[in-house]
Amino acid sequence: IAQDTRVTIEASRGGSTIDRNIFGQFAEHLGTGIYDGVWVGPDSAIPNVRGIRTDVVEALKAIRVPNVRWPGGCFADEYHWKNGIGAPSARRATVNANWGGAIEPNTFGTDEFMDFVDQVGTEAYISINVGSGTFEEASEWLAYMTADQRSAAGKERAANGHSASYRIKYLGLGNETWGCGGNMRPEHYTDLMKRFARFTRNYNPAQQSGADVMQRIAVGPTDDDPAYTEAVMKAWSERDWSWSIEGLSLHSYTVPQWPPSLPSTNFGEDDYALILSTTLKMDGRLAKHSAIMDKYDPEKKVPLFVDEWGVWLAETPGTPQGFLQQQNSLRDAILAGLNFNIFARHAERVRGANIAQMVNVLQSLILTDGAKMVLTPTYWIHKMYLPMQDATFIPVRFDPGSYRHGDIVLPAVDAVAMRDTSGRLWLSLINLDPRQDRAIAIDAAGLDLKRAGGEVLTAPNVNSINTFDAPDTVAPKPISGTVRDGKVTINLPAKSVAMIALDQ
Ligand code: AHR
Repeated sequence: IAQDTRVTIEASRGGSTIDRNIFGQFAEHLGTGIYDGVWVGPDSAIPNVRGIRTDVVEALKAIRVPNVRWPGGCFADEYHWKNGIGAPSARRATVNANWGGAIEPNTFGTDEFMDFVDQVGTEAYISINVGSGTFEEASEWLAYMTADQRSAAGKERAANGHSASYRIKYLGLGNETWGCGGNMRPEHYTDLMKRFARFTRNYNPAQQSGADVMQRIAVGPTDDDPAYTEAVMKAWSERDWSWSIEGLSLHSYTVPQWPPSLPSTNFGEDDYALILSTTLKMDGRLAKHSAIMDKYDPEKKVPLFVDEWGVWLAETPGTPQGFLQQQNSLRDAILAGLNFNIFARHAERVRGANIAQMVNVLQSLILTDGAKMVLTPTYWIHKMYLPMQDATFIPVRFDPGSYRHGDIVLPAVDAVAMRDTSGRLWLSLINLDPRQDRAIAIDAAGLDLKRAGGEVLTAPNVNSINTFDAPDTVAPKPISGTVRDGKVTINLPAKSVAMIALDQ
Protein backbone atom coordinates (compact mmCIF):
# COMPACT_ATOMS: atom_id res chain seq x y z
CA ILE A 1 0.00 0.00 0.00
CA ALA A 2 1.41 3.33 -1.05
CA GLN A 3 2.21 5.90 1.64
CA ASP A 4 0.64 9.34 1.21
CA THR A 5 2.65 12.54 0.84
CA ARG A 6 1.06 15.95 0.34
CA VAL A 7 3.01 18.54 -1.67
CA THR A 8 1.78 22.14 -1.78
CA ILE A 9 3.34 24.32 -4.45
CA GLU A 10 3.29 28.02 -3.61
CA ALA A 11 2.72 28.77 -7.25
CA SER A 12 2.20 32.51 -6.83
CA ARG A 13 5.62 32.95 -5.20
CA GLY A 14 8.78 33.14 -7.29
CA GLY A 15 12.36 32.62 -6.19
CA SER A 16 15.80 32.80 -7.74
CA THR A 17 16.72 31.68 -11.22
CA ILE A 18 18.22 28.19 -11.25
CA ASP A 19 21.27 28.79 -13.41
CA ARG A 20 21.57 26.34 -16.29
CA ASN A 21 25.29 26.17 -15.53
CA ILE A 22 24.58 23.76 -12.65
CA PHE A 23 24.37 21.18 -15.47
CA GLY A 24 27.99 21.80 -16.54
CA GLN A 25 30.30 18.95 -17.53
CA PHE A 26 33.90 18.10 -16.71
CA ALA A 27 36.26 16.48 -19.25
CA GLU A 28 39.72 15.72 -17.94
CA HIS A 29 42.61 14.01 -19.69
CA LEU A 30 42.14 10.96 -17.51
CA GLY A 31 41.75 7.33 -18.53
CA THR A 32 39.52 7.17 -21.59
CA GLY A 33 37.68 10.40 -20.79
CA ILE A 34 39.14 12.17 -23.84
CA TYR A 35 40.90 9.55 -25.98
CA ASP A 36 38.18 7.06 -27.00
CA GLY A 37 35.51 9.01 -25.07
CA VAL A 38 35.58 12.19 -27.18
CA TRP A 39 38.48 11.93 -29.60
CA VAL A 40 38.92 9.04 -32.03
CA GLY A 41 40.92 10.90 -34.69
CA PRO A 42 39.87 11.86 -38.22
CA ASP A 43 41.03 8.55 -39.71
CA SER A 44 38.92 6.40 -37.36
CA ALA A 45 36.20 4.08 -38.67
CA ILE A 46 34.04 5.38 -35.79
CA PRO A 47 31.86 8.18 -37.21
CA ASN A 48 33.48 11.50 -36.36
CA VAL A 49 33.76 15.11 -37.40
CA ARG A 50 37.39 16.21 -37.55
CA GLY A 51 38.29 13.43 -35.09
CA ILE A 52 35.50 14.09 -32.55
CA ARG A 53 33.04 11.26 -32.20
CA THR A 54 29.59 12.05 -33.55
CA ASP A 55 27.57 9.81 -31.22
CA VAL A 56 28.95 11.56 -28.12
CA VAL A 57 28.41 15.04 -29.58
CA GLU A 58 24.81 14.19 -30.52
CA ALA A 59 24.08 12.81 -27.03
CA LEU A 60 25.51 15.96 -25.42
CA LYS A 61 23.61 18.30 -27.74
CA ALA A 62 20.38 16.61 -26.65
CA ILE A 63 20.95 17.66 -23.03
CA ARG A 64 21.98 21.25 -23.86
CA VAL A 65 25.28 21.12 -21.97
CA PRO A 66 25.90 24.69 -20.73
CA ASN A 67 29.70 24.48 -20.29
CA VAL A 68 32.55 21.98 -20.30
CA ARG A 69 35.50 22.27 -17.92
CA TRP A 70 38.83 21.18 -19.46
CA PRO A 71 41.67 19.94 -19.38
CA GLY A 72 41.48 18.95 -15.66
CA GLY A 73 41.43 18.35 -12.71
CA CYS A 74 44.87 17.50 -11.40
CA PHE A 75 45.95 17.12 -15.05
CA ALA A 76 45.47 20.86 -15.59
CA ASP A 77 48.26 21.78 -13.18
CA GLU A 78 50.76 19.77 -15.20
CA TYR A 79 49.38 20.68 -18.62
CA HIS A 80 51.54 22.77 -20.91
CA TRP A 81 49.28 24.02 -23.66
CA LYS A 82 52.00 24.54 -26.27
CA ASN A 83 52.46 20.76 -26.45
CA GLY A 84 48.90 20.57 -27.81
CA ILE A 85 48.90 22.96 -30.79
CA GLY A 86 50.19 22.81 -34.34
CA ALA A 87 50.68 19.93 -36.74
CA PRO A 88 49.51 16.71 -35.02
CA SER A 89 52.61 14.81 -36.18
CA ALA A 90 54.89 17.35 -34.48
CA ARG A 91 53.20 17.28 -31.06
CA ARG A 92 55.28 16.12 -28.12
CA ALA A 93 53.98 13.13 -26.18
CA THR A 94 54.13 13.56 -22.40
CA VAL A 95 53.36 11.36 -19.40
CA ASN A 96 50.08 11.79 -17.54
CA ALA A 97 51.67 11.41 -14.11
CA ASN A 98 48.42 11.94 -12.22
CA TRP A 99 46.44 9.26 -13.96
CA GLY A 100 48.01 5.86 -14.39
CA GLY A 101 51.21 7.13 -16.04
CA ALA A 102 49.43 6.95 -19.38
CA ILE A 103 51.08 8.53 -22.42
CA GLU A 104 49.44 11.82 -23.31
CA PRO A 105 49.86 12.22 -27.07
CA ASN A 106 48.63 15.85 -26.97
CA THR A 107 46.61 15.13 -30.12
CA PHE A 108 43.57 16.66 -28.44
CA GLY A 109 44.70 20.19 -27.60
CA THR A 110 43.24 23.68 -27.50
CA ASP A 111 41.99 23.82 -31.10
CA GLU A 112 40.43 20.36 -30.89
CA PHE A 113 38.74 21.21 -27.58
CA MET A 114 37.34 24.43 -29.00
CA ASP A 115 36.09 22.50 -32.05
CA PHE A 116 34.35 20.09 -29.64
CA VAL A 117 32.82 23.05 -27.76
CA ASP A 118 31.56 24.43 -31.04
CA GLN A 119 30.12 21.09 -32.21
CA VAL A 120 28.27 20.59 -28.90
CA GLY A 121 27.13 24.24 -28.80
CA THR A 122 28.42 24.90 -25.30
CA GLU A 123 30.74 27.29 -23.44
CA ALA A 124 34.42 26.66 -22.73
CA TYR A 125 35.56 26.51 -19.11
CA ILE A 126 39.36 26.44 -19.30
CA SER A 127 41.34 25.50 -16.21
CA ILE A 128 44.80 27.07 -16.34
CA ASN A 129 48.02 25.68 -14.91
CA VAL A 130 48.77 27.47 -11.65
CA GLY A 131 50.56 24.56 -9.94
CA SER A 132 53.52 23.98 -12.26
CA GLY A 133 53.00 26.70 -14.86
CA THR A 134 53.98 30.35 -15.03
CA PHE A 135 52.10 33.62 -15.37
CA GLU A 136 53.73 34.02 -18.76
CA GLU A 137 52.56 30.62 -19.99
CA ALA A 138 48.98 31.26 -18.84
CA SER A 139 48.81 34.75 -20.31
CA GLU A 140 50.20 33.48 -23.63
CA TRP A 141 47.52 30.78 -23.67
CA LEU A 142 44.82 33.40 -23.23
CA ALA A 143 46.40 35.48 -25.99
CA TYR A 144 46.50 32.43 -28.31
CA MET A 145 42.81 31.81 -27.69
CA THR A 146 41.44 35.34 -27.65
CA ALA A 147 43.72 37.89 -29.39
CA ASP A 148 43.04 39.04 -32.94
CA GLN A 149 45.44 38.69 -35.82
CA ARG A 150 47.26 41.95 -35.25
CA SER A 151 49.22 40.03 -32.61
CA ALA A 152 51.60 37.11 -33.16
CA ALA A 153 49.43 34.93 -30.90
CA GLY A 154 46.33 35.60 -33.02
CA LYS A 155 48.33 34.93 -36.21
CA GLU A 156 49.56 31.61 -34.79
CA ARG A 157 46.00 30.53 -34.00
CA ALA A 158 44.92 31.52 -37.51
CA ALA A 159 47.80 29.52 -38.98
CA ASN A 160 46.50 26.55 -37.00
CA GLY A 161 43.14 26.89 -38.72
CA HIS A 162 41.05 29.29 -36.61
CA SER A 163 41.13 32.90 -37.71
CA ALA A 164 38.51 34.29 -35.28
CA SER A 165 39.13 34.64 -31.54
CA TYR A 166 37.67 31.87 -29.42
CA ARG A 167 35.06 32.65 -26.83
CA ILE A 168 36.28 31.74 -23.33
CA LYS A 169 33.44 32.28 -20.89
CA TYR A 170 34.95 30.65 -17.78
CA LEU A 171 38.55 30.53 -16.61
CA GLY A 172 39.59 28.42 -13.63
CA LEU A 173 42.55 29.93 -11.77
CA GLY A 174 44.11 26.60 -10.82
CA ASN A 175 42.66 23.37 -9.50
CA GLU A 176 42.74 22.05 -5.94
CA THR A 177 45.74 24.18 -5.00
CA TRP A 178 45.19 22.86 -1.45
CA GLY A 179 46.05 19.37 -2.81
CA CYS A 180 47.25 18.07 -6.19
CA GLY A 181 47.52 21.64 -7.53
CA GLY A 182 50.50 22.52 -5.31
CA ASN A 183 49.47 22.00 -1.68
CA MET A 184 49.42 25.73 -0.98
CA ARG A 185 48.40 27.54 2.17
CA PRO A 186 45.35 29.72 1.46
CA GLU A 187 47.45 32.89 1.89
CA HIS A 188 49.96 31.68 -0.68
CA TYR A 189 47.18 30.82 -3.12
CA THR A 190 45.41 34.16 -2.76
CA ASP A 191 48.63 35.98 -3.64
CA LEU A 192 49.03 33.84 -6.75
CA MET A 193 45.33 34.14 -7.56
CA LYS A 194 45.58 37.94 -7.73
CA ARG A 195 48.51 37.81 -10.14
CA PHE A 196 46.92 35.14 -12.36
CA ALA A 197 43.65 37.10 -12.34
CA ARG A 198 45.53 40.22 -13.41
CA PHE A 199 47.65 38.71 -16.17
CA THR A 200 45.32 36.18 -17.80
CA ARG A 201 43.63 38.74 -19.99
CA ASN A 202 40.88 37.93 -22.41
CA TYR A 203 41.88 40.03 -25.44
CA ASN A 204 38.49 39.71 -27.10
CA PRO A 205 36.84 43.16 -26.58
CA ALA A 206 33.41 41.50 -26.48
CA GLN A 207 34.48 39.56 -23.39
CA GLN A 208 35.99 42.35 -21.37
CA SER A 209 32.72 43.72 -19.98
CA GLY A 210 28.98 43.24 -20.29
CA ALA A 211 27.01 40.01 -20.46
CA ASP A 212 29.76 38.01 -22.17
CA VAL A 213 32.55 39.00 -19.79
CA MET A 214 34.90 36.15 -18.92
CA GLN A 215 34.35 34.81 -15.39
CA ARG A 216 37.47 33.92 -13.46
CA ILE A 217 36.79 31.13 -10.96
CA ALA A 218 39.17 30.93 -8.00
CA VAL A 219 40.07 27.71 -6.25
CA GLY A 220 37.86 27.39 -3.20
CA PRO A 221 37.17 24.85 -0.50
CA THR A 222 37.12 21.09 -0.38
CA ASP A 223 34.12 19.60 1.38
CA ASP A 224 33.56 21.34 4.73
CA ASP A 225 36.95 23.01 5.14
CA PRO A 226 36.34 26.77 5.47
CA ALA A 227 39.97 27.94 5.10
CA TYR A 228 39.98 28.69 1.36
CA THR A 229 36.45 30.13 1.46
CA GLU A 230 37.52 32.63 4.15
CA ALA A 231 40.82 33.55 2.52
CA VAL A 232 39.58 33.95 -1.06
CA MET A 233 36.43 35.86 -0.12
CA LYS A 234 38.36 38.16 2.22
CA ALA A 235 40.83 38.87 -0.59
CA TRP A 236 37.93 39.50 -2.98
CA SER A 237 36.33 41.96 -0.52
CA GLU A 238 39.61 43.93 -0.56
CA ARG A 239 40.01 43.90 -4.37
CA ASP A 240 40.87 47.04 -6.29
CA TRP A 241 40.75 48.15 -9.92
CA SER A 242 43.68 45.91 -10.87
CA TRP A 243 42.15 42.45 -10.35
CA SER A 244 39.03 40.54 -9.45
CA ILE A 245 37.48 37.10 -9.56
CA GLU A 246 33.93 36.27 -10.60
CA GLY A 247 33.44 32.89 -8.95
CA LEU A 248 34.58 30.52 -6.21
CA SER A 249 34.97 26.78 -6.76
CA LEU A 250 33.93 24.00 -4.37
CA HIS A 251 34.96 20.37 -4.84
CA SER A 252 32.82 17.87 -3.01
CA TYR A 253 32.54 14.21 -3.97
CA THR A 254 30.20 11.60 -2.53
CA VAL A 255 32.79 9.18 -1.20
CA PRO A 256 31.94 7.60 2.16
CA GLN A 257 35.40 6.07 2.56
CA TRP A 258 38.84 6.92 1.19
CA PRO A 259 40.35 5.38 -0.87
CA PRO A 260 37.10 4.90 -2.78
CA SER A 261 36.25 1.23 -2.42
CA LEU A 262 32.49 0.79 -2.61
CA PRO A 263 31.55 -1.17 -5.74
CA SER A 264 29.59 0.43 -8.57
CA THR A 265 27.70 -2.81 -9.37
CA ASN A 266 26.04 -5.62 -7.42
CA PHE A 267 25.82 -3.60 -4.21
CA GLY A 268 23.05 -3.95 -1.66
CA GLU A 269 20.84 -1.70 0.42
CA ASP A 270 23.62 -0.99 2.96
CA ASP A 271 25.64 0.82 0.29
CA TYR A 272 22.51 2.42 -1.18
CA ALA A 273 21.49 4.04 2.10
CA LEU A 274 25.06 4.98 3.04
CA ILE A 275 25.77 6.68 -0.29
CA LEU A 276 22.51 8.64 -0.31
CA SER A 277 23.02 9.77 3.30
CA THR A 278 26.55 10.91 2.35
CA THR A 279 25.38 12.82 -0.71
CA LEU A 280 22.69 14.67 1.26
CA LYS A 281 25.50 16.36 3.23
CA MET A 282 25.89 18.62 0.19
CA ASP A 283 23.00 20.74 1.50
CA GLY A 284 24.66 21.64 4.81
CA ARG A 285 28.00 22.11 3.08
CA LEU A 286 26.56 24.66 0.67
CA ALA A 287 24.82 26.44 3.55
CA LYS A 288 28.10 26.60 5.46
CA HIS A 289 30.17 28.05 2.61
CA SER A 290 27.35 30.39 1.57
CA ALA A 291 27.23 31.81 5.12
CA ILE A 292 30.96 32.57 4.98
CA MET A 293 30.58 34.11 1.53
CA ASP A 294 27.64 36.21 2.78
CA LYS A 295 29.93 37.84 5.36
CA TYR A 296 32.10 39.30 2.59
CA ASP A 297 29.53 39.41 -0.20
CA PRO A 298 26.00 39.93 1.16
CA GLU A 299 24.76 40.87 -2.32
CA LYS A 300 25.82 37.44 -3.63
CA LYS A 301 27.87 38.85 -6.49
CA VAL A 302 30.33 35.93 -6.40
CA PRO A 303 28.75 32.65 -7.47
CA LEU A 304 29.76 29.32 -5.96
CA PHE A 305 30.69 26.79 -8.68
CA VAL A 306 30.59 23.19 -7.44
CA ASP A 307 32.90 22.36 -10.31
CA GLU A 308 33.66 18.79 -9.22
CA TRP A 309 30.96 16.63 -7.69
CA GLY A 310 29.52 13.14 -8.05
CA VAL A 311 29.89 9.67 -6.58
CA TRP A 312 33.43 8.23 -6.47
CA LEU A 313 33.45 4.43 -6.29
CA ALA A 314 35.93 1.56 -6.74
CA GLU A 315 37.36 1.25 -10.23
CA THR A 316 35.69 -1.35 -12.46
CA PRO A 317 37.67 -4.58 -12.09
CA GLY A 318 39.80 -5.22 -15.15
CA THR A 319 40.18 -1.56 -16.11
CA PRO A 320 43.63 0.06 -15.88
CA GLN A 321 44.49 1.38 -12.44
CA GLY A 322 44.19 5.14 -12.20
CA PHE A 323 41.64 5.40 -15.02
CA LEU A 324 38.79 5.92 -12.50
CA GLN A 325 36.30 3.98 -14.57
CA GLN A 326 33.13 2.93 -12.73
CA GLN A 327 29.65 1.75 -13.68
CA ASN A 328 26.61 3.91 -13.13
CA SER A 329 23.38 2.65 -11.59
CA LEU A 330 19.84 3.77 -10.81
CA ARG A 331 21.18 4.67 -7.34
CA ASP A 332 23.62 7.13 -8.94
CA ALA A 333 20.81 8.70 -10.97
CA ILE A 334 18.82 9.23 -7.77
CA LEU A 335 21.95 10.79 -6.24
CA ALA A 336 22.25 13.15 -9.23
CA GLY A 337 18.60 14.19 -8.93
CA LEU A 338 19.02 14.86 -5.20
CA ASN A 339 22.06 17.05 -5.88
CA PHE A 340 20.33 19.05 -8.61
CA ASN A 341 17.44 19.64 -6.20
CA ILE A 342 19.92 20.79 -3.54
CA PHE A 343 21.65 23.13 -6.01
CA ALA A 344 18.22 24.51 -6.95
CA ARG A 345 17.46 25.29 -3.29
CA HIS A 346 20.76 27.19 -3.14
CA ALA A 347 20.20 28.87 -6.51
CA GLU A 348 20.95 32.33 -5.17
CA ARG A 349 24.57 31.38 -4.51
CA VAL A 350 25.20 28.16 -6.47
CA ARG A 351 25.29 29.26 -10.10
CA GLY A 352 27.48 26.54 -11.57
CA ALA A 353 28.36 22.88 -11.07
CA ASN A 354 30.30 20.31 -13.08
CA ILE A 355 29.64 16.64 -12.55
CA ALA A 356 32.77 14.47 -12.56
CA GLN A 357 33.00 13.43 -15.29
CA MET A 358 31.32 13.58 -18.70
CA VAL A 359 32.50 10.36 -20.40
CA ASN A 360 34.09 7.15 -19.03
CA VAL A 361 35.35 8.64 -15.73
CA LEU A 362 33.67 8.46 -12.28
CA GLN A 363 29.93 9.35 -12.42
CA SER A 364 29.86 9.63 -16.18
CA LEU A 365 26.89 10.36 -18.40
CA ILE A 366 28.26 8.31 -21.26
CA LEU A 367 30.33 5.13 -21.48
CA THR A 368 32.22 4.17 -24.63
CA ASP A 369 34.30 1.22 -25.72
CA GLY A 370 35.63 1.56 -29.23
CA ALA A 371 32.64 2.01 -31.52
CA LYS A 372 30.15 1.19 -28.73
CA MET A 373 28.42 3.85 -26.66
CA VAL A 374 25.82 3.66 -23.89
CA LEU A 375 23.93 6.38 -22.01
CA THR A 376 24.02 5.93 -18.24
CA PRO A 377 21.14 6.48 -15.77
CA THR A 378 22.85 9.77 -14.79
CA TYR A 379 22.58 10.91 -18.43
CA TRP A 380 18.80 10.43 -18.28
CA ILE A 381 18.54 12.66 -15.20
CA HIS A 382 20.23 15.43 -17.18
CA LYS A 383 17.70 14.93 -19.98
CA MET A 384 14.68 14.84 -17.66
CA TYR A 385 15.90 17.94 -15.80
CA LEU A 386 16.09 20.14 -18.93
CA PRO A 387 13.11 22.23 -17.70
CA MET A 388 15.25 23.23 -14.69
CA GLN A 389 17.76 25.08 -16.89
CA ASP A 390 17.27 28.79 -16.07
CA ALA A 391 13.89 28.05 -14.44
CA THR A 392 12.49 30.10 -11.58
CA PHE A 393 12.56 28.30 -8.23
CA ILE A 394 9.08 28.00 -6.66
CA PRO A 395 8.77 27.18 -2.95
CA VAL A 396 7.03 23.94 -1.94
CA ARG A 397 5.77 22.65 1.40
CA PHE A 398 5.77 18.92 2.16
CA ASP A 399 6.50 16.44 4.90
CA PRO A 400 9.21 14.18 3.42
CA GLY A 401 8.47 11.28 5.75
CA SER A 402 11.33 8.91 6.36
CA TYR A 403 13.07 5.91 4.90
CA ARG A 404 15.08 3.89 7.43
CA HIS A 405 17.78 1.32 6.89
CA GLY A 406 19.65 0.15 9.98
CA ASP A 407 20.88 3.28 11.75
CA ILE A 408 20.42 5.46 8.69
CA VAL A 409 17.30 7.61 8.51
CA LEU A 410 16.72 9.56 5.28
CA PRO A 411 13.86 11.65 3.93
CA ALA A 412 11.62 9.36 1.89
CA VAL A 413 10.57 12.04 -0.60
CA ASP A 414 12.23 15.08 -2.11
CA ALA A 415 10.44 17.75 -4.17
CA VAL A 416 11.44 20.93 -6.00
CA ALA A 417 9.04 23.06 -8.05
CA MET A 418 9.99 25.46 -10.81
CA ARG A 419 8.64 27.50 -13.70
CA ASP A 420 10.60 26.92 -16.88
CA THR A 421 11.66 29.74 -19.17
CA SER A 422 8.32 29.52 -21.01
CA GLY A 423 6.33 29.86 -17.76
CA ARG A 424 5.28 26.21 -17.48
CA LEU A 425 5.08 24.77 -13.96
CA TRP A 426 7.15 21.64 -13.19
CA LEU A 427 7.67 19.48 -10.13
CA SER A 428 10.63 17.19 -9.62
CA LEU A 429 9.85 14.32 -7.26
CA ILE A 430 12.22 11.72 -5.85
CA ASN A 431 11.23 8.63 -3.90
CA LEU A 432 14.35 7.46 -2.00
CA ASP A 433 12.58 4.50 -0.45
CA PRO A 434 13.69 1.41 -2.41
CA ARG A 435 10.58 -0.64 -1.49
CA GLN A 436 7.61 1.59 -0.89
CA ASP A 437 5.67 3.49 -3.59
CA ARG A 438 4.25 6.88 -2.57
CA ALA A 439 0.92 8.44 -3.48
CA ILE A 440 1.81 12.10 -3.93
CA ALA A 441 -1.10 14.52 -3.58
CA ILE A 442 -0.20 17.82 -5.26
CA ASP A 443 -1.96 21.14 -5.00
CA ALA A 444 -0.66 24.34 -6.48
CA ALA A 445 -2.22 26.86 -4.09
CA GLY A 446 -4.79 28.80 -6.10
CA LEU A 447 -4.24 27.07 -9.46
CA ASP A 448 -6.86 24.88 -11.07
CA LEU A 449 -4.67 22.07 -12.41
CA LYS A 450 -6.02 20.18 -15.42
CA ARG A 451 -3.19 17.89 -16.48
CA ALA A 452 -0.10 16.33 -14.91
CA GLY A 453 2.39 14.27 -16.84
CA GLY A 454 6.05 13.78 -17.51
CA GLU A 455 8.74 11.16 -17.15
CA VAL A 456 9.91 8.84 -14.41
CA LEU A 457 13.21 6.99 -14.08
CA THR A 458 13.20 3.73 -12.18
CA ALA A 459 14.36 0.14 -12.73
CA PRO A 460 14.01 -3.33 -11.21
CA ASN A 461 16.76 -2.70 -8.63
CA VAL A 462 18.70 0.20 -7.16
CA ASN A 463 21.81 -1.41 -8.63
CA SER A 464 20.34 -1.76 -12.14
CA ILE A 465 22.73 -0.48 -14.84
CA ASN A 466 22.80 0.10 -18.59
CA THR A 467 25.35 -1.93 -20.54
CA PHE A 468 26.39 -2.03 -24.20
CA ASP A 469 24.35 -5.23 -24.55
CA ALA A 470 21.35 -4.04 -22.51
CA PRO A 471 21.34 -0.24 -22.91
CA ASP A 472 17.72 0.46 -21.88
CA THR A 473 17.40 -1.16 -18.46
CA VAL A 474 17.32 2.28 -16.81
CA ALA A 475 15.57 4.73 -19.13
CA PRO A 476 12.77 7.27 -18.59
CA LYS A 477 9.16 6.20 -19.05
CA PRO A 478 6.01 8.31 -19.24
CA ILE A 479 4.13 9.00 -15.99
CA SER A 480 0.86 10.84 -15.47
CA GLY A 481 -1.29 11.90 -12.58
CA THR A 482 -5.01 11.74 -11.87
CA VAL A 483 -6.67 15.15 -11.66
CA ARG A 484 -9.68 15.93 -9.49
CA ASP A 485 -10.99 19.37 -8.46
CA GLY A 486 -7.83 21.05 -9.70
CA LYS A 487 -5.57 18.80 -7.60
CA VAL A 488 -3.31 15.99 -8.74
CA THR A 489 -2.43 12.56 -7.38
CA ILE A 490 0.60 10.72 -8.72
CA ASN A 491 1.80 7.26 -7.83
CA LEU A 492 5.55 7.70 -7.43
CA PRO A 493 7.26 4.31 -7.69
CA ALA A 494 9.80 3.18 -5.11
CA LYS A 495 13.42 4.23 -5.94
CA SER A 496 12.52 6.71 -8.64
CA VAL A 497 12.99 10.24 -9.93
CA ALA A 498 10.17 12.00 -11.79
CA MET A 499 9.84 15.33 -13.57
CA ILE A 500 6.20 16.32 -13.98
CA ALA A 501 4.63 19.20 -15.91
CA LEU A 502 1.55 20.63 -14.19
CA ASP A 503 -0.77 22.41 -16.61
CA GLN A 504 -3.91 24.46 -15.98
O1 AHR B 1 38.04 13.95 -10.96
C1 AHR B 1 39.19 13.30 -10.55
C2 AHR B 1 40.10 14.18 -9.73
O2 AHR B 1 39.48 14.53 -8.54
C3 AHR B 1 40.47 15.51 -10.34
O3 AHR B 1 41.53 15.43 -11.22
C4 AHR B 1 40.86 16.32 -9.14
O4 AHR B 1 40.64 17.69 -9.34
C5 AHR B 1 40.01 15.73 -8.02
O5 AHR B 1 40.76 15.46 -6.91
